[in-house]
Amino acid sequence: MEMNMTIARNSAGTKNCQAPEVAALEFQAVSKSFSSGTRALDKVSLSIAAERFTVLLGPSGSGKTTLLRAAVGLSTPDAGEIMLAGESIAGRGLKAARRRMGMVHQDFGLSERLTTAQNVMAGAAASVGWVRVLFQAYPRSIQLKACELLARVGLDEIQANRRAGTLSGGQRQRVGIARALINDPLVILADEPVASLDPATAQEIMALLREAAGERGAAVLCSLHQIDLARRFADRIVGLKDGQIVFDGTPADLTPAALAIIFDGPETRLKPIVAVA
Ligand SMILES: Nc1ncnc2c1ncn2[C@@H]1O[C@H](COP(=O)(O)OP(=O)(O)O)[C@@H](O)[C@H]1O
Ligand SMILES: [Mg+2]
Repeated sequence: MEMNMTIARNSAGTKNCQAPEVAALEFQAVSKSFSSGTRALDKVSLSIAAERFTVLLGPSGSGKTTLLRAAVGLSTPDAGEIMLAGESIAGRGLKAARRRMGMVHQDFGLSERLTTAQNVMAGAAASVGWVRVLFQAYPRSIQLKACELLARVGLDEIQANRRAGTLSGGQRQRVGIARALINDPLVILADEPVASLDPATAQEIMALLREAAGERGAAVLCSLHQIDLARRFADRIVGLKDGQIVFDGTPADLTPAALAIIFDGPETRLKPIVAVA
């Protein structure tokens, strides 16, 4: 076990001059339309590097959720391919791929009647099998890991045993982050993870997501509509508008002109004050 982890770290961390580095997650000309006629994704090609924090920035309706759902196989693209560490997630590849991805949701996605610790362990459901989930009989290794992760996200023993339904929003998203990390994912997909939180808590949770994922070598693809948060926490910002990538750069590249392109429409008139601050 220890040896496998060492090998994984070395192979991820060593730069190979002969071969180009394989992206942690890659979208290749991904398109998706709905029966309503909406073209939610229009030939999106995007390569997410290992261990980086990439923010998908765009107004409501730009396709952020559709892209993240496609990455975890919750929706199937009409065209294009999605690769995790160089392997397609389509068909038989999906089950294996899901074990190497973590997801963090805007509404936290917790089971309110389960305890905090049980919610974290539920993140390992795909690898432990449904019988263990049914009887809440997770292996000791998963139990210990859940405790370790709960401590990492700032939750104590008492909170670990409380039903998730009794926690505050910020605490719930701490649980969501711990759950997303339990499988040692290559990539964490976070869909507007702080949209339901107050601004101060939102900052804390973004910092925690960035740090906890970074420590474990997980890449993060995080959708946001808040420009200030994107600037503060992203290594790279990808701007999405009407299902197309219209910007790709660092926070420093996100000029008012770039913002006008991403948020062209009614929101542009509300955002520049934040953008130039
Ligand atoms: N299940 C669906 N059925 C029909 N249209 C949808 C569905 N999901 C999303 N859409 C449409 O696709 C577009 C992109 O939506 P979405 O990915 O949710 O954007 P975002 O997350 O950026 O707000 C929107 O126009 C939305 O109305
Ligand atoms: Mg969305």
